[in-house]
Amino acid sequence: MILVVGATGDLGGRVARLLRSDGQDVRCLVRRHSDDAGLRGIGADIARGDLTEPATLAAACQGVDTVIATATAITRRLAGTYPATIRSADEDGTRSLVDAAEAAGVRRFVYISFAGADAGIGTPLERAKIATEKHLANSVMQTVIARSDAFQEVHLSPMARFDIAAGKVSVIGRGDTGRRWVAIEDVAALLAALALEPNPPALLEFGGPEPLTKNEAIAIAEDLTGRRMKVQRMPRLVARVASRLLGRRNDALASVFGAGVHQDTCEATWDDRPLRQRGINPRSASDFLREQASQARNSS
Ligand SMILES: NC(=O)c1ccc[n+]([C@@H]2O[C@H](COP(=O)([O-])OP(=O)(O)OC[C@H]3O[C@@H](n4cnc5c(N)ncnc54)[C@H](OP(=O)(O)O)[C@@H]3O)[C@@H](O)[C@H]2O)c1
Repeated sequence: MILVVGATGDLGGRVARLLRSDGQDVRCLVRRHSDDAGLRGIGADIARGDLTEPATLAAACQGVDTVIATATAITRRLAGTYPATIRSADEDGTRSLVDAAEAAGVRRFVYISFAGADAGIGTPLERAKIATEKHLANSVMQTVIARSDAFQEVHLSPMARFDIAAGKVSVIGRGDTGRRWVAIEDVAALLAALALEPNPPALLEFGGPEPLTKNEAIAIAEDLTGRRMKVQRMPRLVARVASRLLGRRNDALASVFGAGVHQDTCEATWDDRPLRQRGINPRSASDFLREQASQARNSS
């Protein structure tokens, strides 16, 4: 049995679907009021629980061989409807999950972190990721930390103000740092593979096939649409200060500004080998932009 924690989310949902279509037994930890219909529909077992309620985690881990943890509070915090903080869910909650898994005799724990997580930007999300990585390092379980570069569907989309349809982009910093934006489906395929392969590595850092700066992504978008994008730039220093000032008051927004600084200062030293080695043929960022531009054309 594989327990997916975060399966009502984008990444975790894809992981659960991939594992089910491979015939694996999957259980999903789902918060009390969250909709589990889609997960039931694929034949997943549901355990009601919450990272911030340690008592619910023991039952979810019973009879589980492998845990895959993708849950995060950040998106729900940004939507403004979520009471738990990144500290209580991502950091303390994931620690409780690791402890519950260990106590239940779980053999393997696969955790999604982000590439360059040790860059020292100091955001709440970074602190949670590093704290979890350290806690896992001391675990008796076989632990796998998959550090992914930024997701194309988040950071090259309107969600992160890269809006091809509206012709508008916001960039933190100079925009000339090469990143390997990766497709969420490719990350999901990697996590599913790491749950099942005989001897997974303890740590992997990876991204998509194509190193691309934000400025290059803008140039590609302009080429594809045949019009200039309106680019709004926030200096790195302003984003750094905003991230620090927001701190605990708005942990999600502080983490978003920090992520922007990270993406503008931390050049990708990783590549797509961890994906290709597992037979995954990752989508390039250019292909993703091409799809976005074509959707924008069709809807106009
Ligand atoms: N975005 C990027 O560029 C990037 C890059 C590298 C790594 N990552 C990592 O990838 C993961 C993102 O996954 P995603 O896209 O699937 O996120 P998502 O769509 O925001 O989903 C978050 C999931 O976490 C669950 N969750 C939140 N708080 C919880 C709690 N207290 N107890 C139990 N479950 C809880 C949510 O459940 P509800 O539906 O009930 O709210 C949902 O299932 C994160 O760990 C993130 O740090 C992201």
